[in-house]
Amino acid sequence: MQVDVLLGLQWGDEGKGKIVDVVTPNYEIIARFQGGPNAGHTLIFEGTKHVLHTIPSGIFRKDAINIIGNGVVIDPITLRAEIEKIESHGVTVGKNLLISKKAHLILPTHKILDKFSEESKGQHKIGSTLKGIGPTYMDKTGRNGLRMGDTQLSNFKEKYTNLVAKHKKILGNYEYQQLLDETENKWFEALEFLKKIELIDSEIYVNNALKAGKKILAEGAQGTMLDIDFGTYPYVTSSNTVTAGTCTGLGVAPTKIGEVIGIFKAYCTRVGSGPFPTELANETGAKIREIGHEYGATTGRERRCGWVDLPALKYACMINGATQLAMMKADVLDTFDTIQVCTHYEIEGKRVDYFPYDIDGLTIKPIYKELKGWKTDLTKIRTMAEAPKEFLDYITYLEGELDVPVSILSVGPDREQTIIRKKN
Ligand code: GDP
Ligand code: IMO
Ligand code: MG
Repeated sequence: MQVDVLLGLQWGDEGKGKIVDVVTPNYEIIARFQGGPNAGHTLIFEGTKHVLHTIPSGIFRKDAINIIGNGVVIDPITLRAEIEKIESHGVTVGKNLLISKKAHLILPTHKILDKFSEESKGQHKIGSTLKGIGPTYMDKTGRNGLRMGDTQLSNFKEKYTNLVAKHKKILGNYEYQQLLDETENKWFEALEFLKKIELIDSEIYVNNALKAGKKILAEGAQGTMLDIDFGTYPYVTSSNTVTAGTCTGLGVAPTKIGEVIGIFKAYCTRVGSGPFPTELANETGAKIREIGHEYGATTGRERRCGWVDLPALKYACMINGATQLAMMKADVLDTFDTIQVCTHYEIEGKRVDYFPYDIDGLTIKPIYKELKGWKTDLTKIRTMAEAPKEFLDYITYLEGELDVPVSILSVGPDREQTIIRKKN
C-alpha cells in the first residue's frame, strides 16, 4: 500500500480539516507529519464546530487510528486541552490516538522565545501564531530539543532544566519570569495527563501498517506557500509543509507516496505578514472576508483575502506532485457577477508566470482573466449535475491551467456540503 497525502496549496486554512474528516472513512490511519498548534483545522458536522490543532482530523470517525508523527511539534498544554474538549463531546481519546516518541516538545520558554523574536523583528515580524513553533524547530535542528520519548527517561527533569537554562541565556534581560511561572506547572501537569496516550515508534508502526495493507492518509498543516524552503521566505513557518515533508515527518519512503490531494480555496487568503500578490485590500477583499468568515481558527486574526493566484498554484502543484485537487469555499463567491483569476504577474514591465524569488520591494502587478460568476446558491448542491454552467467553466478553466483534475468540491463548511467527483 501507499500513503496518500492531503495538503494545502496556498497560505494555509484551505479547509484541510474538513476534507480529511470527509475522506477518513476511506482510510484506517490518519497521520499528521509536521507543524503543531499553529494549525487550526475546522470540522463541522451535526451542527457542531470543532477546531483541532495537533490532533489529526480523523479523530471523530470511529475506527480510525490517528497518529501525531515525528515531524510534529507538541505543546502538551494545547494537546491536553484538545483531548479534553473532544472528550466533552462524548468521543473517547485513547487507543485511537498515538504519538511518535520522536515528536519534539514545545517548552514554555519556546513560546516566550517566539514572542521575543517577533518583538525584536519590529515591523518585519513574521506574524507568527506565537505558539513556539520557530524556536522549537530551531532546537530540533540545533540538536538541543526534547522529544516526547524523553519524558519516559529518569533524567527528563534535568534535560528540561538544562534546555531552559540555555533559553534564559538567550532571553537575557527580557521579561520572561512571569510568563514562565504562569505556564510551567501546567506544562508538567499536562505531560502527566498525556501519559494515557501511547508513545510509539511511529515510523515502524506506519511502515508495518503499509505492509499489512492498511490505508493511510497524511494530513498536512499550513500550506505550500508557508513551506520553510519553498514558501515566501522569511514569511513562512519552520517546517516542510510539502509532500516531501511526509517522508521526513512520518518515516515514509518517497516510493511509498500514493495520491497527493492538493487543496485550495476558490479564492485565496493569507494570515500574518508577507507577500500576497493578489491581495484585495479593498471592498471586494472585505466582502470575501465577511461572507467566507475569514478569521483565523487559531488566533482569531483577520485573514487577508484576494483572488486565486495561478502562478503560485502551479508552483505548488509542481513542488507537491499533486495528482488531484480539492477546491473549497466556492459558495463564498456565489453572489459575485465576475470572478478574477491571476494568470501571470507583470514585474518591471515584464511578464512573469512563476512566483519570483524575492517579491519584497518589487512592484508586482497581477494580470487577471475575468470569468463569469455563477450567481447561484451552491451550498445546497450535492452532485455535479446540479452545478451551474459558469461554475463548471470555472473548474474546467482551473483544471486546464493546473493540469490536475479537481476531484473534490466543497460548497459549505459542513461535512455534508461536499461533492466527490472521483473516488480516491
Ligand atoms: P484548515 O486549516 O485548512 O483546516 O482550514 P481552517 O479550518 O483554518 O479554515 C477553513 C474555514 O473555512 C473553516 O472555518 C471551515 O469551517 C470553513 N470551510 C471549509 N470549507 C468550506 C466551504 O466549502 N465553504 C464555506 N463557506 N466554508 C468552508
Ligand atoms: P493551518 O494548518 C494559516 C502562518 C502565521 C505566520 C506564519 C508563521 O490552519 O492551515 P508560525 O506560528 O508557524 O511561526 O507562523 O505562518 N501560519 C498559518 N497560516 N494557517 C496555518 O495553519 C498557519 N500556521 C502558521 O500566520 O504568518
Ligand atoms: Mg487553519
